Amino acid sequence: MSHYRIRGGSPLVGTVPVSGAKNSVLPILAATLLTGGRSVLHNCPDLRDVRSALRILQHLGCRTAREGDTLTVDSSHLTRWDVPHDLMREMRSSVIFLGPLIARCGRAKLSLPGGCDIGQRPIDLHLSALRRLGVTIDEQGGDILCRAEALRGQDVILGFPSVGATENTLLVATACGGVTRIINAAREPEIADLQEYLRKAGASVAGAGETVITVSGELPRRDVEHTILPDRIETATYLCACAACGGEITLTGAEPEHVNTVLQCLSEGGCTVRTSGGRITLRAERPLRGMPLVRTMPYPGFPTDAQAPLMAAACTARGSTVFLETIFENRYRHVPELARMGAEIRVSGRTAVVNGTDLHGAAVRCTDLRGGAALVIAALAAEGESRIEEIAHIERGYERLPEKIAALGGSIVREDGQKD
Ligand code: UD1
Repeated sequence: MSHYRIRGGSPLVGTVPVSGAKNSVLPILAATLLTGGRSVLHNCPDLRDVRSALRILQHLGCRTAREGDTLTVDSSHLTRWDVPHDLMREMRSSVIFLGPLIARCGRAKLSLPGGCDIGQRPIDLHLSALRRLGVTIDEQGGDILCRAEALRGQDVILGFPSVGATENTLLVATACGGVTRIINAAREPEIADLQEYLRKAGASVAGAGETVITVSGELPRRDVEHTILPDRIETATYLCACAACGGEITLTGAEPEHVNTVLQCLSEGGCTVRTSGGRITLRAERPLRGMPLVRTMPYPGFPTDAQAPLMAAACTARGSTVFLETIFENRYRHVPELARMGAEIRVSGRTAVVNGTDLHGAAVRCTDLRGGAALVIAALAAEGESRIEEIAHIERGYERLPEKIAALGGSIVREDGQKD
């Protein structure tokens, strides 16, 4: 398997561009099914998850092409309405294809990873919202079979502002006719980007970014051109890397507004931040100071996806930082790996207390995408050499990470294994 070899201890200095947002391009690629025409999408990162989404679109009958960071999807002729197990397994968020398939084909069959019955598993919010809009849902072993028997616009109240459930509901609502209001909707910028795409496709949608989204009428079929917004989690990751290593970096093509909470934490840790247009410059002197409580929350709160990267920076600070993870139950799997590098972290339930210290290089293993990014940050800040295994997790969501780190003066090499 491939791995990264990182020699830590140098400051990061330089300028790198931010890529398009993974969490925006994935739902928008799924939404291309709705338009029945050509979608030209700019600023699309080349990531494992994006390639998986393209394979799903091709399986469904779409024609897709990439030229640089522009993806073209032609969804004029769909030939299928199912996503089989092997394609679903590649990417958990492929559940986002459910809404567009129902809206376009009137039916959808998805095979859920794991193969067990749905029960209280976490797509319950998606399914109850779809039922409310008139979708009939059957569970058959590990498959779910959806039929749009009588779609109708409705008020849909989400019990929690789930990002994926908001997106699936919004996508089905474009086929409902009448008026749908999604109440207690997620407010993430990626949902506003999806709204923007749908508007360009002719949909009447308003309110994304607020707690109530209103969709009225049905989506006409037309061609669309759209530019994906910058990745705020990638932005946060490079800022945390500089905070941990010291130095001065500038990120271009960023959206500073979208990383407000992260910038605030890093400023409180002693970093100096300047923003201007789409540029963010962060200057950090080592060591960082411990930061006030970091509590993950739905947007506009501190993003759960930036928790692990910021924790890696906090591991290098003088003083302690307390993290409270309120979104996911089990999102501290990177902690034992950080501990191999000397990090001092105590976890109790949803709380992690980090006492900053000096890190040393070690052999570690990525447990998930953002946890993997945390290991890269810790390795860059540590004295000596680290080997980071199972980097496929990182490659799901970070475009050209070794090149970008190297452009900032970090010492990182990707070494190919025999099979990846
Ligand atoms: C999206 C992001 C992910 C991010 C997360 C939270 C994408 C592709 N992924 O994931 O990077 O970490 O938002 O910001 O955009 N839940 C349920 N039932 C449901 C749906 C969710 O209980 O039907 C729970 C989840 O288990 C989790 C919480 O709600 O505890 C938040 O999940 P959600 O907002 O749905 O995250 P995703 O859309 O999966």
